Amino acid sequence: MAVKEIIRMGHPTLRLPAEPYPIEKIGSDECHELIEDLRDTLAAAGGIGLAAPQIDVPVQVAVLDIPAGPTRYGDLSAVPFSVYINPKLTVLDESRAGYWEGCLSVPGLRGYVVRPQRVKVEFIDLDANEQSLIAEGFTATVFQHEFDHLASKLYIDHISDTRLLVFEDQFVEHGIDSLTSHLQTASQSAS
Ligand code: NI
Repeated sequence: MAVKEIIRMGHPTLRLPAEPYPIEKIGSDECHELIEDLRDTLAAAGGIGLAAPQIDVPVQVAVLDIPAGPTRYGDLSAVPFSVYINPKLTVLDESRAGYWEGCLSVPGLRGYVVRPQRVKVEFIDLDANEQSLIAEGFTATVFQHEFDHLASKLYIDHISDTRLLVFEDQFVEHGIDSLTSHLQTASQSAS
């Protein structure tokens, strides 16, 4: 149980595909320690999700903990602390929406990423049972962001228009309206 260092963009582990977590290790002391490290590190950083590669453990394990009420991403649907081992994500329909994402491994930045908004998540839980759920809206975006970490991707890889990548303090200082005008310009130039 410890707060681990969160590795940042440029560390090679973030760009290596994570290995499937061995099912036989679920329930072991090593497994408990990894989950506690992820939980403690996420809580200390004030984030809403963390993937094992972000603490330099290249296995397919991610955790979410979205509190009710205000967060650094606004008011969100709460997701209690939960663990996703070897997850697979299926897009259920064509609905897409964009959110201003941030990442503990890319500190200080926000970027606007459009992603599918209805997804099915299949995973192994801490009792080594197969589970599945359907996530919608911002929660669907959070799952995709975290599971991208298991596939060596960062949210910035989804941003081709660099006007949609901003510093977080500027995002706060100037508000979403100034950014929205950039967005409208961006969608006009894309259409
Ligand atoms: Ni991230």
